Amino acid sequence: MAGKGGVGKTTVSATLARAAALSGLSTLIVEVEGKTGLPGMFAHGELGYDEAVLSAGGGPDGAADVRARTLTSDGALLEYLQDHGLSRISRRLVSSGALDVVATAAPGIKDILLLGKVKQLERAGAADLIVLDAPAAGHAITFLQSARSLLDTVSVGPINAQARDVLELLEDHRRCQVVLVTIPEETPVNEAVETAFSLEDRVGIGLGPIVVNGVYPTVAGLGADPAAAADAAGVSLRPGEAGALTAAAAFRRSRTALQDEQVGRLEAALPLPQIRLPFLFTTDIGPPELEALARALLAEIDALSGLPA
Ligand SMILES: Nc1ncnc2c1ncn2[C@@H]1O[C@H](COP(=O)(O)OP(=O)(O)OP(=O)(O)O)[C@@H](O)[C@H]1O
Ligand SMILES: [Mg+2]
Repeated sequence: MAGKGGVGKTTVSATLARAAALSGLSTLIVEVEGKTGLPGMFAHGELGYDEAVLSAGGGPDGAADVRARTLTSDGALLEYLQDHGLSRISRRLVSSGALDVVATAAPGIKDILLLGKVKQLERAGAADLIVLDAPAAGHAITFLQSARSLLDTVSVGPINAQARDVLELLEDHRRCQVVLVTIPEETPVNEAVETAFSLEDRVGIGLGPIVVNGVYPTVAGLGADPAAAADAAGVSLRPGEAGALTAAAAFRRSRTALQDEQVGRLEAALPLPQIRLPFLFTTDIGPPELEALARALLAEIDALSGLPA
């Protein structure tokens, strides 16, 4: 999952995971930056390096598990060293900050440790679907490019082997796709288009459908005179309410028109299927809101694949 900061990458990661689980696919969400709102969306406490179950499957809805973990490059390095018989020195190496020294000499090393770990999870069949909540904006491209950059600087040894494996995963469009997230506003749309082209050109990674998050749901009767509509519905308005209603309707119409324009621009610029997720009028996304978003996502996928919702 990639996109400009704040457009809803974490929310859409959670939504996709829950939607997959509702379809019977066990799902693992991998976070690479701590302190996102992810666990709260499942009413769960803080996440750590080890896996946690965010929503347990096997209930009456037939859903599969959603699990999650936060990966750090230090944690991945520790694990790598331990798996390679170097557990005695590994802790000291990591706590001494040696990784930071190496990372300065070979940029991308931290990214490759994270992606290497994701590749290992994928190979081990850790879940039917692994959702990686990628770092924001520009960093997503360097992050995904790290494998290729390292292959240029490190030509032999375990890092080279790791980078090769990661590249093989990233370039295999059946195993790995980037889902870009954007919102229907001018700058985020421009950035999504640029990122899409950069990812294809510079990383060689496949693009899945693009998610347009935060689309205002359609409200019936906005076009008509809202005061008359209220009257027709038998709702009696108090003094001043007719004017407020008319202003609110005009505001919503203009916002919707702006969004429609941006969605259209995105459609013209990027030949990717679009998945639109509604803007939810809430301050916090918790389990009920996530459920609504997951159902909306599934309906969009059904519509794209021509299935009845
Ligand atoms: N469809 C939506 N409806 C209403 N609010 C939303 C929706 N999607 C996301 N939000 C809210 O927008 C804010 C940003 O969302 P989120 O944290 O998912 O974005 P992000 O792209 O992961 O951000 P960052 O770049 O900081 O990681 C959050 O407060 C979230 O609750
Ligand atoms: Mg986030």
